[in-house]
Amino acid sequence: MNTDTTGTDGTGPSRVLVVDDDRLNRMLLAGGVRAQGHEVTEAADGHAALARLREQPHDAVLLDIVMPGMDGFEVLAQLRADVALRATPVIVVSAVEDMASVVRAIEMGAVDYLPKPFDPVLLRARLQQSLQQKRLRDLEQAYLGQELTLRQNERLATLGRLAAGVAHELNNPAAAASRSVHQLAENVDHLLDAARDLFATGLDHDVLSWVGEVRTRHVDPGRTALDVADEEDALAGWLGRTGAEGADDLAPVLAEQGLTTAAVTECATRLREREVAVALRWIGHSEHTRSLLGEVHDAVARISGIVEALKGYTHLDRAPDQLVDVHAGLDDTVAVLAAALQGVTVTRSYEPDLPAVAANGPELNQLWTHLIANAADALGGTGTLGLETARDGDRITVAVTDDGPGIPDAVRDRVFDPFVSTKPPGAGTGLGLTVAHRIVTESHGGRIEVASVPGSTRFTVHLPITR
Ligand SMILES: Nc1ncnc2c1ncn2[C@@H]1O[C@H](COP(=O)(O)OP(=O)(O)OP(=O)(O)O)[C@@H](O)[C@H]1O
Ligand SMILES: [Mg+2]
Repeated sequence: MNTDTTGTDGTGPSRVLVVDDDRLNRMLLAGGVRAQGHEVTEAADGHAALARLREQPHDAVLLDIVMPGMDGFEVLAQLRADVALRATPVIVVSAVEDMASVVRAIEMGAVDYLPKPFDPVLLRARLQQSLQQKRLRDLEQAYLGQELTLRQNERLATLGRLAAGVAHELNNPAAAASRSVHQLAENVDHLLDAARDLFATGLDHDVLSWVGEVRTRHVDPGRTALDVADEEDALAGWLGRTGAEGADDLAPVLAEQGLTTAAVTECATRLREREVAVALRWIGHSEHTRSLLGEVHDAVARISGIVEALKGYTHLDRAPDQLVDVHAGLDDTVAVLAAALQGVTVTRSYEPDLPAVAANGPELNQLWTHLIANAADALGGTGTLGLETARDGDRITVAVTDDGPGIPDAVRDRVFDPFVSTKPPGAGTGLGLTVAHRIVTESHGGRIEVASVPGSTRFTVHLPITR
């Protein structure tokens, strides 16, 4: 068998459909195609042709135009309307003098034509040409399909890392806020009880302010947990001796709020013992309420801060193409990756007059994420992550450095290739740097390079300032 069609691209013989109502023509054409090493299917009219094409994929069609019933034009129209068949190249076969039909067929999507009676050399040339184009298109389609899957995986990888980081970051302040609110609810009851008792003593406002000041005078900002515990014991003893109600519960609250026995003793110089206990209870619970509110405030502020960083990071509130502040992007990314960077020192050497760059904000943050996450992985909780920026003519450069073990020899030359990873399955997809490379080069017309030895790894990104 003649196998020249299996040529350099390594594909096997193609399948060609020959459509002609004239049996002799059909046989001649089919013979010519077979002689080139292809498989041939035959159809005697338009309906049969469409049926064959729908039964199995073909790489090319040789189509007669003038046929009874459904003619070549109608077949072409139906092919073009069918998504699955649209890409199949059609070469129309037509009498030399009928140029108008050829033109019409080409306008309807035929890729080429063969004059009748057909010439085997011409048939070979035109068929080869169409098949080659079809092969390239198929390759392109396959490549695009892979691209799509790759991008989907990349997005999932970024998203997974982000979600895990954010959940970790939000967890602590959310738990703290919930704990404080719970205590606050209990404490408000105590405070209301204390206020009622206080009201019953008839102590006036001046005396109560004085008691408050006594506390402030005795608060020691440098006290340790041990001091507080000691004070708590002492206060419990003092309160116990006065026979005050709830002395055991009150002592820890007072001690925690900085009330010392010295303060309490000073109060006793102006108040009766029973009044001292009531006033102290009121002050203790007031202060406790205030400090719990402070804790809730701090936790909520922390949560808002994380949400702010996230918003900045994802650029949810902005269009994708914009003037991007690279420093803010780097800082937001560090904030989002705080969990992975625990124990790592982050140093910044930022160019003070770095211009904003025309870029896709979310993509740039994805880029920083992959570089910083890799550094964090390499450092494993100890060492230094460096972020450096500089202006370089009409470009900016951003370097992400770390003093970790360096890129392993086995992958040194291939780090930007997809699925190259030294991390255990589940820990790395090997797509981080592929995405980074694509974002820099394809999306932004920039350049990324890496220099790595044990103890020093540096990824440098060059980005044009205007797009
Ligand atoms: N800063 C670095 N220090 C040492 N090795 C690194 C560094 N950055 C990348 N590498 C090496 O390059 C490999 C490829 O990195 P890449 O980011 O593409 O994939 P990954 O980190 O393994 O997985 P992921 O898809 O989760 O990012 C890593 O597995 C690691 O071996
Ligand atoms: Mg990575």
